[in-house]
Amino acid sequence: MSEPLVLGIETSCDETGVGIVRGRQLLANEVASSMAEHARFGGVVPEIASRAHLHAILPTLDRALAAAQIDLGQVDAIAVTAGPGLVGALAVGLSAAKALAFALGKPFYGVNHLVGHVGVDLLEHGPLPSPALALLVSGGHTNILRVDDLATRVSQIGGAIDDAAGEAYDKVARLLGLPYPGGPVIDAAAQHGDPTSIAFPRGLTARHDLARHRFDFSFSGLKTSVARWVEQRQLDGQPIPLDDVAASFQEAVADVLTGKALDACRHFGVGTLLLGGGVAANSRLRTLLAERCAAAGVELRRPSPALCTDNGAMIAAVGVELVRAGVAPSAFDIGADSGLPVEEVSV
Ligand code: KG4
Ligand code: ZN
Repeated sequence: MSEPLVLGIETSCDETGVGIVRGRQLLANEVASSMAEHARFGGVVPEIASRAHLHAILPTLDRALAAAQIDLGQVDAIAVTAGPGLVGALAVGLSAAKALAFALGKPFYGVNHLVGHVGVDLLEHGPLPSPALALLVSGGHTNILRVDDLATRVSQIGGAIDDAAGEAYDKVARLLGLPYPGGPVIDAAAQHGDPTSIAFPRGLTARHDLARHRFDFSFSGLKTSVARWVEQRQLDGQPIPLDDVAASFQEAVADVLTGKALDACRHFGVGTLLLGGGVAANSRLRTLLAERCAAAGVELRRPSPALCTDNGAMIAAVGVELVRAGVAPSAFDIGADSGLPVEEVSV
């Protein structure tokens, strides 16, 4: 069989993404973001996101088809994010995908957004050895996953017990008076700061926590600790050294994420680690993880920063794997699932 040509649609949060992939070749990846419309609220407003998807979906689709230089009729399958994410936002992409698949008479696949963050790496680095571990860090999730087969067998080894890593970035940015989304802004500020200047806590790394939460993450204590530190400085009438706070906070996040991911690689005897999700664009996380993987003899796979944040190509990439594995297409009556577990690669 020739390589499947799959159109992927992503609308789980604030980016409207349409990607087109042939086999593992990326043909188009168009993204329209409503981020600017949420900035003044300090976070994503679901209703605004849904409306923005509705406005952006068809123009983004047209741009993707033009970029890939294909007609809709050539597409073999349509893949779309079915969850997790904002229900109203997901519903826009799902409706569009169902309408396209129905009109074209092509199969459609409801895909897990989190698996998309892992699957996008195949477009740049080829097939994934089995098993591999994945460190998935996004705005809503922080997970260590075991991937035996991207299309059919993904399991969770650890997760966040409170705030996700990206959420911590966004909340810390907010308390420092920096704009949403906080990740890129803190990353930039941290370049000029001293990461050793403030000793912020590393969540769930104490001996008594490791017994129960060895591969789990907690960033809410870190966020509170940054807030207390800033408050104390203000009470003392001292200026806030933004760059040092950003660098020290970022160091704490990167230290815990990389430490636990490599501990999992050692524990499970797995030699390949994949990094995915919006926070995977973080410069310090990428560097520290590369250093620690090299020292441990673990192969690290990192998608380009542009493919780390939400996009349609990552959904198309999983769609291709589903078609190749012969997984049955989704029924037309599937709905959006805001809490879709990562084990459910497709619904
Ligand atoms: O995966 P993603 O695009 O959306 C979700 O599925 O949640 O991740 C968005 C998150 C936001 O919290 C954003 O602040 C964070 O990724 N992010 C970053 C960077 N770029 C985006 N965090 C740290 N450093 C970055 N360079
Ligand atoms: Zn995401």
